[in-house]
Amino acid sequence: MPDVDGASDTKDFHLEVPARNEAFFLKGSGALGWGLQNRLARIFNPVSGRTVMLAFDHGYFQGPTTGLERMDITIVPLVPYADALMLTRGALRSSIPSAAPNALVLRASGGPSILKELSNEQIAMDIEDAIRLNASALAVQVFIGGECESQSVHNLTRLVDLGNRYGLAVLGVTAVGKNMTRDAKYLRLACRISAELGAHFVKTYYVSEGFETVTASCPVPVVMAGGKKLPELEALTMAHRAVEEGAAGVDMGRNIFQSEAPVAMIQAVRKVVHERLKPQHAYDFFQTLRREAKAEVFAK
Ligand code: R5P
Repeated sequence: MPDVDGASDTKDFHLEVPARNEAFFLKGSGALGWGLQNRLARIFNPVSGRTVMLAFDHGYFQGPTTGLERMDITIVPLVPYADALMLTRGALRSSIPSAAPNALVLRASGGPSILKELSNEQIAMDIEDAIRLNASALAVQVFIGGECESQSVHNLTRLVDLGNRYGLAVLGVTAVGKNMTRDAKYLRLACRISAELGAHFVKTYYVSEGFETVTASCPVPVVMAGGKKLPELEALTMAHRAVEEGAAGVDMGRNIFQSEAPVAMIQAVRKVVHERLKPQHAYDFFQTLRREAKAEVFAK
């Protein structure tokens, strides 16, 4: 109980200052509830408006992908440099320290392995477990044009209903089937459908022609997917272009954890995303960090 004896009667209600009513910083997210906005603000840095998400959910359909054989060894050192972790609940509980401060984007769809029809996914986790794990968002694959297109869209809409009910964001991940052309026309279609059906943000691939039309026609933030491993300078260039062309950040996996220097690479990606460092400068930064890390190992 506060001590009432010395309480002052002098009060200042700041009558001349209008109450603050600030617009939420993320595109298309102004009408969301407080909890949802707060969770999105844990994923996206409110200062830069962008995010560096580290994706390592590959095991949910691929098993132990190269670089993810031992997540406790390869991923945990990267955790301090990611704004958000995109992962399965199994990886989270088994391999990530519970004191990790990152926003969590949990893989919430799954079912088929690489041996089967990949679009045949179902919702793969209960919203209660996501809340128990303190997730900020749920990620669901959307297979536009795929064999099980409607089923995957239904997974998205079910999760959006649950996410809106409990204040968790939903990330629509546009999966491009083997027989589909990965171009701006397709990505515009897939991103727009995901956003119109309620995804709070969308993950999609970079394309060198017309990516700005993909981000412009998507009413919610778009994060760039990393894709297959590229030489570091190329990956940094792709991230840089994506951000310059309207992406609200990146969600990269193999281009970080399969790099010859993953800790250096994720820091270079951060420079590109949050500080808009030019690709060559970010690459020089990567090389410097890599050399320093090597020298440290050598000195031991
Ligand atoms: C997308 O299909 C899944 O979420 C992947 O497991 C992951 O996000 C891919 O990341 P990357 O292509 O950057 O390795």
